[in-house]
Amino acid sequence: MIKKAVLPVAGLGTRFLPATKASPKEMLPILDKPLIQYAVEEAVKVGIEEFLFITGKHKRAIEDHFDKAYELEERLKRAGKYDLLEKINCFENLNIAYIRQKEPKGLGDAILCAKPFVKDEAFVVILSDDLIDPDHSVLHEMIKIYEEKKAPVIALEAVPLEEVSRYGIVSGKKIDGYYIVDNLIEKPEPAHAPSNLAIIGRYILTPQIFKYLDSLQPGRGGEIQLTDALKVLLDETVIYGYIIEGKRYDAGEKLGYLKTIVEFALKDTEISYQFVSFLKDKFSNL
Ligand code: UTP
Repeated sequence: MIKKAVLPVAGLGTRFLPATKASPKEMLPILDKPLIQYAVEEAVKVGIEEFLFITGKHKRAIEDHFDKAYELEERLKRAGKYDLLEKINCFENLNIAYIRQKEPKGLGDAILCAKPFVKDEAFVVILSDDLIDPDHSVLHEMIKIYEEKKAPVIALEAVPLEEVSRYGIVSGKKIDGYYIVDNLIEKPEPAHAPSNLAIIGRYILTPQIFKYLDSLQPGRGGEIQLTDALKVLLDETVIYGYIIEGKRYDAGEKLGYLKTIVEFALKDTEISYQFVSFLKDKFSNL
């Protein structure tokens, strides 16, 4: 059973500057909930009990978000706002630890910081800026594959060829609904991409990855890339690719973030009606 999740949140979030100069990208809200909360809720749904956040400078707001807020709780109690109280109290039983990545040297380096927490267990990695439709449990399907194969599993999505240079790209053989990965390249140019299958921010990893991360040289963008470590890991183990079902939103860049908010607003029973009439009004004038 997989009980541990690692959530790297130490990146600089440069695509959202200046908003991310002093506050974490992972705290950007989709309606009233920050991205990181969607990630934690997704993990809780599949039975994750222990969380490790890989944090960095200016990420204190994330720790505060998952901490108790005594004064606010008191005020809400006094005002009889129990619905809001419930909303801010939902993390009380979570077991969360924090390790600081000294410098944002890349996702691979961030994952390496999790070594003492993971020990000898398989673990889930969630990148909170890839928001997956909460109606589809990608992690549940990935854990099923892990439990059968006892090998790493990565989430995949077919993307337009012109977008491959934004992702880790894999190629592989399709068998029984999943892929057996045979190659991985971080952010290739379209002409050099082995396919259009992009790695999405959900992984199930085994502790085998740490020895490769430990000795890895910086790759694309001068960063320690998880994709590069997975590529050398292929010499030791099979890696499975699971094509996600349901919608995935790239909330880590401006246009994707905006699309995510619109989609969530259209599904929100409290505001969707008024939001739709606002949009109709707006587009009728175009
Ligand atoms: P991204 O590349 O999407 O985030 O990394 P970023 O680097 O913060 O953003 P940009 O590209 O500058 O706009 C995916 C996830 O990995 C974490 C990020 O916080 C994000 O959740 N990350 C990235 C780390 O924890 N450490 C790093 O060194 C790099």
